Amino acid sequence: MIYLDNSATTPVHPEVLTMLTDVIEQCYGNPSSLHNMGVKAERLVEQARKVVAEALEATPQEILFTSGGTEANNMAIRGIVEQYQSRGKHIITTMVEHPSVFEVFTYLEKQGFRVTYLPVDEVGRIRLHELEEAMTDETILVSIMHVNNEVGTVQPIEEIGAILERYPKTLFHVDAVQSYGKIPLSVRKAKVDALSLSAHKLHGPKGTGALYLRKHVVIKPLLIGGGQENGMRSGTHNVPGIAGLAKATILAKKEQERRMNQFQLWKERFIETIMDKLDHVIVNGDQTQAGGAPYIINLSFSGMKSEVLVHALETEHVLVSSKSACSSKNERASRVLSAMGLSDEVATSSIRISMGYQTEEQDIMDCVKALERVVPNLQQVMKVRRK
Ligand SMILES: Cc1ncc(COP(=O)(O)O)c(C=O)c1O
Repeated sequence: MIYLDNSATTPVHPEVLTMLTDVIEQCYGNPSSLHNMGVKAERLVEQARKVVAEALEATPQEILFTSGGTEANNMAIRGIVEQYQSRGKHIITTMVEHPSVFEVFTYLEKQGFRVTYLPVDEVGRIRLHELEEAMTDETILVSIMHVNNEVGTVQPIEEIGAILERYPKTLFHVDAVQSYGKIPLSVRKAKVDALSLSAHKLHGPKGTGALYLRKHVVIKPLLIGGGQENGMRSGTHNVPGIAGLAKATILAKKEQERRMNQFQLWKERFIETIMDKLDHVIVNGDQTQAGGAPYIINLSFSGMKSEVLVHALETEHVLVSSKSACSSKNERASRVLSAMGLSDEVATSSIRISMGYQTEEQDIMDCVKALERVVPNLQQVMKVRRK
């Protein structure tokens, strides 16, 4: 089986797996306990905090552990908005966010906040002048993702941070779930106030993530209880998950540059070959090295339904995705592709191929061959059906 759905989730790295089982077996104390098992567990959590902080150029005190990207996004957005709503009731996001951001904004809109959903250009990137035009004295939060989960387009986070610096009342949140450990981002340089990440996109365990929250930024907590994480996120720490996130971070950082260069090369080869061998293919998103994540490829095969193609590829033992994993069972056109101005036909015929640290060049080339086998047949069937 060739697994090319790494933006949905990744296999756990063998060294992370060893770490997880070791911690589950040997370090099962509660980090809040005073005895030596508790201290041992607490030490692991604090070491992990340092590792995650270092990867973002933050300080350990600025890292809060969560149950994943969805919780980190909810915690940042709802927590900031609730805390700072006396400053203003206007919040900004984009049309291409993951549902764990986008749906929180639609919820807040129903609660009486004024929301600006920034449009994007044809590759899925916001236009900075439109952000500037949307800013008001009432704007308390801007939330913009780093790498888009469907098409891989990278948003200009540092430029956005520089613009927002002129608005001291506005906090800047970044959903970095698809870029953490892959595309470097310094929260200091980019002037980010809050940033979400998740372990399972980086060969770590599911159900673990973190929120970077800049010093002095206060949030109303989502979870109230034992007061863990400085009272910002109650609940017994998921010690194995947190240690696994740290291990995955260390492993990814070691390999990051080499792997990203490889992915870029394979992505270019893949697109070149597909465009050469197959008709009616559209490549979605930014294909430049600086503008698109090298590990995500999004293609539309006109006239074909994404789901049909995903299942046809599965019969060839190649696993890819239609849209994002969370919405792939929903047959409507992708919100992200529609926001990029693509027609319903193109937006309902896209597949996402995403690479992970276990991916080999041969996997990519085998995927090309599988597409060459299934696409012409399916295109023929669709043509006959339309007649
Ligand atoms: C961009 C983005 N944000 C947030 C999430 C949610 O993360 P988690 O699955 O850890 O809740 C995902 C997961 O697909 C994602 O791709």
